[in-house]
Amino acid sequence: MSKKKLIAGNWKMNGSIAANDALVRAVIAGMAGADCTVAVCVPAPYLAQLQILRHCCALLLGAQDVSQHEQGAYTGEVSAAMLKEFGVRFCIVGHSERRQHHGEADAVVADKARLVLAHGITPIVCVGETLAERQAGRTGEVVKRQLAAVIHTNGHCISEIAVAYEPVWAIGTGQTATPEQAQQVHALLRAQLQAASGHADRVNILYGGSMNAATAASLLVQPDIDGGLIGGASLKAQDFLQIIGAAQTARA
Ligand code: 13P
Repeated sequence: MSKKKLIAGNWKMNGSIAANDALVRAVIAGMAGADCTVAVCVPAPYLAQLQILRHCCALLLGAQDVSQHEQGAYTGEVSAAMLKEFGVRFCIVGHSERRQHHGEADAVVADKARLVLAHGITPIVCVGETLAERQAGRTGEVVKRQLAAVIHTNGHCISEIAVAYEPVWAIGTGQTATPEQAQQVHALLRAQLQAASGHADRVNILYGGSMNAATAASLLVQPDIDGGLIGGASLKAQDFLQIIGAAQTARA
């Protein structure tokens, strides 16, 4: 039997107490009986508000980033232990917005993945090429380099991570990668994980980048696309629920 697909919403820096409440209630009500894993990665201050999700088995709580340090004098940072205390099950690491705007290098991303794994949280490790890198024919080289750093640091438990292939040119642009483009990269990543662990079939490799209700189904039926990391469309309950529905159909 194939593993369950994973659909994770990345709210990015959006939300309010009132909006979160309405969104989460609508998603939980609409996804009753869904046979896939669903999570929402929320801004850190809202983890406290969303503690209700710890007791609702259907929708899991996720975070968007974590400190690369265990604890101490790192003003503004949130540790993996703190995330764990708030019931976080998934944590995005190495999102391209952090690599781009906060200068996160591959080694930092690898350390973040190590720390969250050590606290029993699944890191969703993001990799992806820029448009210039794709046009220069460097897509494979770039994503393999990004994943190699995480494999190097986490080799022994690499099959416990999730990976998200997020082409930078597809994020927030409305320009979704074609199913063929995405599948090609996912197959590369799967082969790399297989060579490292022998258990690549256990790893959920998600696609992210303008995935929406219209594009989800054709992406999710690809053999190596095990779910989605959804930005904009995860902020609208109906859109997010349609993607969850597409994941169910793809698995059947
Ligand atoms: P969009 O779905 O808004 O393109 O964002 C994708 C993303 O960055 C998810 O992490």
